[in-house]
Parts: sequence; C-alpha cells; structure tokens
Amino acid sequence: MKKVENMTVLSNELIARKIYKCVLSGQLVNEITEPGQFVHVKVSGGTEPTLRRPISICEIDRAQESLTMIYRVEGKGTKLLSEKRDGETVDVLGPLGNGFPIEGLKPNAHCLLVGGGIGVPPLYELAKQLVSKGHNVTTVIGFRSTDDVFLEKEFAILGDTYVVTEDGTSGEQGFVTDIIKKYQLSCDRYYACGPRMMLRALETMMPENGYLSLEERMGCGIGACLACVCDTQDKVSYRKVCTDGPVFPVGEVVV
Ligand SMILES: Cc1cc2nc3c(=O)[nH]c(=O)nc-3n(C[C@H](O)[C@H](O)[C@H](O)COP(=O)(O)OP(=O)(O)OC[C@H]3O[C@@H](n4cnc5c(N)ncnc54)[C@H](O)[C@@H]3O)c2cc1C
Ligand code: FES
Repeated sequence: MKKVENMTVLSNELIARKIYKCVLSGQLVNEITEPGQFVHVKVSGGTEPTLRRPISICEIDRAQESLTMIYRVEGKGTKLLSEKRDGETVDVLGPLGNGFPIEGLKPNAHCLLVGGGIGVPPLYELAKQLVSKGHNVTTVIGFRSTDDVFLEKEFAILGDTYVVTEDGTSGEQGFVTDIIKKYQLSCDRYYACGPRMMLRALETMMPENGYLSLEERMGCGIGACLACVCDTQDKVSYRKVCTDGPVFPVGEVVV
C-alpha cells in the first residue's frame, strides 16, 4: 500500500562525482514488494520545487526499517536533497510502480543485469534478491568516466561484474552492449535500467526475455497527470510509466 511518510535521514553522503547515497528510515519500507519500485520525494518544505522527484529504491533493510536511494545531483530538486543532514526528515510518497519480476525463473537461472549511470541503483536490490533465491547474476554497469563509478564492489560480491566507461578510465572502454557482445553474455532473463539509447540498443540485441525500467520525467507519480505516458509498440495504446511501469517486458513500450 502507498504511504506518505516523513522518513528520517540516517545518512546522506557523496560516493562518486555528483552521486549521493541516502539512507532513510521509516515504516514505508514494510510496504515495498518488488525490487525496482521507486519513491517520490518532496525535496523542500515549501512550494519550490512543487513537484516531487522520483528516485529508485536501491536497497532495503526490513530489520532496520530503512531504504537506500542513490541519486545524481541534476538540478534544483536533487541539489536540495543532497543538503539534507542526518536526523532531518524527508517527505516520501511510496512505494510506487511495478518493479522487476523475479518469479517464473527456472532453478539456478542465469540473470544478466545491465545498468547505465543513474539506472544502476535499482538493480542492486534486484541482484540481492535473485542471489538469495539461488540464481546466478552477472552484472554489466556502464558510466561516462572513472569518477562516476559506484556500486562496483557491492555487485562484485554477488556475481561476475563488468564495469565499462565511455573513456576507458575504469574497466573496459565502450558501452554496456560492447561488453555483452565481446564476452557473448547469455542469460535466461535480463533486466536493464538506464538511458533510452542504452535500452534501445539492448532491445535490438536481445528482443526477448528481458525487462526494461524507464526513467521518464514525472509529475504526480500516481497515474493522474499523464506526464509520463509512452506509446506501446503496437501504437494502439499507451502506458503510464509511473503506475504501469517503470518496469516493462521488452517489446511492450517504445523505448
Ligand atoms: C522511476 C524513476 C526512477 C528514478 N531513479 C533515479 C535514481 O535512482 N537516481 C537518480 O539519480 N535519478 C533517478 N531518476 C531521475 C530523477 O528523478 C531526476 O534526475 C530528478 O527528478 C531530477 O530532478 P532535479 O530537480 O534535480 O532536476 P531538474 O531541475 O528537474 O532537471 C535537471 C536536468 O535533469 C533532466 N531530468 C530531470 N528528470 C529527468 C528524468 N526523469 N529523466 C531524464 N532527465 C531528467 C532535466 O531535463 C534537466 O536537464 C529516476 C526517475 C524515474 C522516473
Ligand atoms: S506522473 Fe502523473 S501520470 Fe505518471
């Protein structure tokens, strides 16, 4: 069930260039059902900015009733969020959206997780849950440059992990798709989150057995404003990313 809660900031620290890791505690954590869901955060007590900002849930700790968000400072909203200090509260609406499905896999299935930039965070809770169910996880995460890299060590604990940067300053040089081609990474199912161009390239390369998470701009986050709609591939209908997604089976919506 969706809740609005003033969650308490346990920590909010810089972990890479313009990238912050924020841990929040509150009962809303008990409502999270799937990895890949997101929260909608009101970053200021006033009206500026008016709209909430959607941020993926990167990790949850049910025992501590805490969740982790990893976000990049892009503009006014995320800048204000980065200024929140331990002990302050943040107005959070969530959990929102449908996440990555982890049911229906054969035992010990091989899953490929592909993330780009700020699309990497929701894959972490997914990786943990897949591994805890006995599945094997290979992760490919792509960034612009070495200063932008995060979660590399955390993923490496869970399975084979490839880091790729556009300028080659960390891991291999190129795009996530170059790594998948080079090492001929195959899988029973893949999951991806990242920029549209990355999702498009993946869909062309692997048109089946995948789930793509879209980071569309949002207004309300609850299906009322239509700010986040995208066309279905058959062009006869549309989907709301906030309530029908953000995760869709590959081939369902135009990415
Ligand atoms: C479901 C979902 C999950 C997300 N998860 C994360 C996450 O885990 N970590 C994270 O860092 N970000 C995430 N985002 C993106 C995040 O919501 C935006 O970066 C944030 O809203 C920017 O707010 P701002 O006020 O800082 O920037 P604004 O001042 O609103 O915009 C600054 C710049 O960022 C661009 N921008 C803003 N929002 C988006 C967007 N959604 N997609 C592409 N460009 C955008 C604007 O066009 C502008 O150029 C997610 C978005 C969605 C929809
Ligand atoms: S953000 Fe309002 S309908 Fe999706």
